[in-house]
Amino acid sequence: MSKLRYDGQVVVVTGAGGGLGREYCLYFASRGASVVVNDLGGSFKGEGKSTKAADVVVDEIKAAGGKAVANYDSVTDGEKIIETAIKNYGRIDVLINNAGILRDISFKNMKDQDWDLIIAVHVKGSYKCARAAWPYFRKQKYGRVINTASAAGLFGSFGQCNYSAAKLAMVGFTETLAKEGAKYNIHANVIAPIAASRMTETVMPPDILANLKPDWVVPLVAVLVHKDAEENGSIFEVGGGHVAKLRWERSSGLLLKADDTYTPGAILKKWDQVSDFKNAEYPTGAADFMGLLEKSMEMGPNDKGETLDFKGKVALV
Ligand code: NAI
Repeated sequence: MSKLRYDGQVVVVTGAGGGLGREYCLYFASRGASVVVNDLGGSFKGEGKSTKAADVVVDEIKAAGGKAVANYDSVTDGEKIIETAIKNYGRIDVLINNAGILRDISFKNMKDQDWDLIIAVHVKGSYKCARAAWPYFRKQKYGRVINTASAAGLFGSFGQCNYSAAKLAMVGFTETLAKEGAKYNIHANVIAPIAASRMTETVMPPDILANLKPDWVVPLVAVLVHKDAEENGSIFEVGGGHVAKLRWERSSGLLLKADDTYTPGAILKKWDQVSDFKNAEYPTGAADFMGLLEKSMEMGPNDKGETLDFKGKVALV
């Protein structure tokens, strides 16, 4: 069986001095790609910087006979990272937005600085790198982007309000890049990984971490960024040998007459229909509000009883 190869391609991985980023770099270099190993080299809280983290990975790749170059800029200066790819290798084919930090703190105690730094690294950083790569992708009618979300973003996580907001932003960002890039053969997908790294080593027990090897996230990413892959705009959970896809679900919903009988009471009386997922759909776009409005106009007036009692939902009047 032939192996996936990336010969002649240039892969940029941000935050690649350790954890997941390092694994991506080692893999793509071992499969023929030239790799830009970006890392600011600071702490997991985003303090300080150093060239060592990226250098160690570049040395490792070179020692194994691969091609790699280091970049030490912050992802918030994404254009400099992409420039490193262009200057050294003349092109960019794959961008893996992976750099990340944590500033965990309860919402009650969160400071603007905790919020701003997280949004800057994850959201602005991913934007800056993708924005700088985009003209090259469009021109060559080819590009692959992986953005990195998190279960914290998809489901919420105590003490991670800033991180959750930034990580769910990666989903909307990816879905739009996928739509705008499709006709240029630019595909963007987003992963919510789980793996042992310095980010998780303080919050998970060692026996669990032993079963969450960071290189087990690599195979999915390898598939998604391959030139023959068609997947675009999808959300995946990946880790510990498990890969699953997530999608939006919309209940068939409640449609009422839109007139002066459309009241809180009218909604409450039929609340069960709002959250009835029996005949749910899996949308890739907003509901057809114009079509629904037309139907709504044809309906008779609502039962608008206004005496509300949330315990029994509504007191019918
Ligand atoms: P890690 O801490 O080992 O790797 C992140 C790397 O990003 C570090 O080497 C760090 O120096 C670098 N970095 C931080 N700020 C940077 C900046 N401004 N510019 C350039 N580089 C910067 O953590 P890990 O676990 O490998 O995380 C990789 C990505 O996966 C992150 O986006 C993280 O939020 C995400 N993630 C990881 C999970 C896990 O279970 N390990 C769970 C969910 C999401």
